[in-house]
Amino acid sequence: MPRGYNSLNLPRVNPMPLLAKRVGRAKPSAIMVVADKAKRLKAEGRDIISFSIGVPNFLPGQHVYDAVRESLNKDSGQYGSNRGADALLDAFLKHIEAIGLAGYGRANVVTGVGAKHVIYNLAEVLLDEGDTIAFPTPYWTSYLDIAEIVNAKIDLLSCPSGQNYKLTPAQLDAALARKPKVFLFNNPSNPTGMVYSADEISALADVLIRHPDNWIIADDIYNRMVFDGVGYHNFVHFRPELRERMIFIDSLSKTYGMPGWRVGFMAGPEAVAKAVVTMNSNHITNLPEVTTAAAIAALSGPQDVPAAKNLEFQAKRDQVLSVLAEIPGIVCPRPQGAFYVFPDVSAYYGRTHGPSGASIANDIDLCNALLEVKGVACVPGSAFGEPRALRISYTCPTPQLAPGMQRIKEFFSELR
Ligand SMILES: Cc1ncc(COP(=O)(O)O)c(C=O)c1O
Repeated sequence: MPRGYNSLNLPRVNPMPLLAKRVGRAKPSAIMVVADKAKRLKAEGRDIISFSIGVPNFLPGQHVYDAVRESLNKDSGQYGSNRGADALLDAFLKHIEAIGLAGYGRANVVTGVGAKHVIYNLAEVLLDEGDTIAFPTPYWTSYLDIAEIVNAKIDLLSCPSGQNYKLTPAQLDAALARKPKVFLFNNPSNPTGMVYSADEISALADVLIRHPDNWIIADDIYNRMVFDGVGYHNFVHFRPELRERMIFIDSLSKTYGMPGWRVGFMAGPEAVAKAVVTMNSNHITNLPEVTTAAAIAALSGPQDVPAAKNLEFQAKRDQVLSVLAEIPGIVCPRPQGAFYVFPDVSAYYGRTHGPSGASIANDIDLCNALLEVKGVACVPGSAFGEPRALRISYTCPTPQLAPGMQRIKEFFSELR
């Protein structure tokens, strides 16, 4: 008799029933794989500097925690709204008005358990199996994974370092002529940190107007993290009529240092919002009351923490770029937002790391060797569809940044 398969030691008679096919298409995030390896090495006592996971590494102001404590004293003990509490929707509406997205009402907005959840909901709501979703490469990893789970066709629009990792109007025009159901756009970008200028957004908006048949998802969760005074620009600033088919995505995760609180939003046409509410009603039901209180406080309270962090990140960006500029052969478009730098390091592929003998055929070899030999964790660009690059997320404590970058410089100087 075979041993039982559970704690009751029941005999296993039949093979396990099959899992759904979509599970075979779902992959754990490639970013977490690197972060986990870095964590393991750290636990083994290695001196590891992590430039891998995209966490902001700061906490929101005290007012957020005060609001949470107060909400506990007033707990209703009830289920909440599938869309989000009115007070939170209103706080969000005010928040986006400040970046030029005015004229939306409660019926246009929905909350979710982070922007990732909102995007997942939108994939379910907008894409039937076999529909096409088009988005630029490099892309945020989950776009691809979510599109694969819902069995969409994926049209990747290649934007290499030579074009500053930015989509051109001609590329967009050609892509929309192929009639995708959804065009997904991300500005400022993870992983590149690139920010589109007003002129660039305006030119893309003109192309979008010429192709009226697709939905537009604008995942702009880093919209408050923009440097050098370039400002944040959205298609509807230039072409307000695009509101009829554009869904804007926002999140508290990065701006307020609250990734674990899991609060995301969308603003878009009422019909889309309603469909996303229906999705919520079938899984999360509602955001918890304490989370809602924290989110309202973050959005409506003092904005000095995010403002100070933005200045700090801009200075860190400069520090990273100045070291990268000292490494011959690296091509690095200048990011103006988020907290990522995405250097093209492909000039070094085919070399060997002298001291360790590790051969570097690609981004994965390079990131592995960098982690093992120098204790610096970066994410291979292939996690974002661009194997010529690697991603440096520079939100680590300030004292770690200079030594981490020096180790990277040393590593490249040792490649033969
Ligand atoms: C471009 C982009 N969109 C969405 C998300 C998801 O954010 P959230 O934490 O709100 O789910 C991330 C997180 O890394 C991101 O970089």
